[in-house]
Amino acid sequence: MVNRMKIIMLGAPGAGKGTQAKMIADKYQIPHISTGDIFRANIKNGTELGKEAKTYMDKGELVPDELTVRILLDRVAQPDCEKGYVLDGFPRTIPQAEVLDQELTKRNEKIDYAINVEVPDENIVRRMSGRRACVSCGATYHLVHIPPKKEGLCDKCGTELILRDDDKEETVKNRLGVYHDQTQPLIEYYSNKGVLQSVDGTIDMMDVFKGITDILGE
Ligand code: AP5
Ligand code: MG
Ligand code: ZN
Repeated sequence: MVNRMKIIMLGAPGAGKGTQAKMIADKYQIPHISTGDIFRANIKNGTELGKEAKTYMDKGELVPDELTVRILLDRVAQPDCEKGYVLDGFPRTIPQAEVLDQELTKRNEKIDYAINVEVPDENIVRRMSGRRACVSCGATYHLVHIPPKKEGLCDKCGTELILRDDDKEETVKNRLGVYHDQTQPLIEYYSNKGVLQSVDGTIDMMDVFKGITDILGE
């Protein structure tokens, strides 16, 4: 089966976009593209891009649209994206969404689903302090909800897990503010396009996923 679904994950920082996007990518055999993961991989490898992105990320601010859009368009032009993809953390501003739409329109394509994972702010701060991330493969854990099998190590690749620099409480609060100002308007944007679907992100992650597969189909 050729699956050409193009999916966008929307939701506050820590809503579970990455967790769900990985499961979607596995089930539907499409690439998972996270701009945050791309930036973190660049920071880890000490690239120029990484250095620039880090100055914004550490403060919980958005990396400028111009830089982010360039990276994303390069990525979706790769051959593996011909079978569709799930975008996690992009777009994050109306201008980013507009550029993506223009690119897709040129190719006679469109976004099929924008899935909004809803989690209230109160839950977010609690979640983030427990999160541990693998910068090698992008896997995400939670000390309480989704612990790794071996303490401190990634189940998939054995790399030592880290607390992300931007998961400190103050930075999380700033990220939430940025989310409400700049990213939340995308909910209306995609609703107007008739592709928005919302799921409750506060329940068990497998139940969240069930809600998503009900939308996307088997
Ligand atoms: P990014 O990496 O995208 O971070 P984010 O949007 O802030 O989202 P997170 O990755 O923090 O959360 P998530 O929704 O993926 O949740 P997760 O699945 O990990 O971006 C980081 C930074 O990069 C930005 O601040 C910005 O500076 C820059 N950037 C990235 N993209 C950009 C763009 N397009 N434009 C400009 N700048 C950009 O889950 C969170 C935790 O909860 C985990 O511990 C997880 O295990 C746990 N969890 C998940 N689901 C559940 C559940 N159902 N129940 C209980 N716990 C759960
Ligand atoms: Mg993420
Ligand atoms: Zn890993």
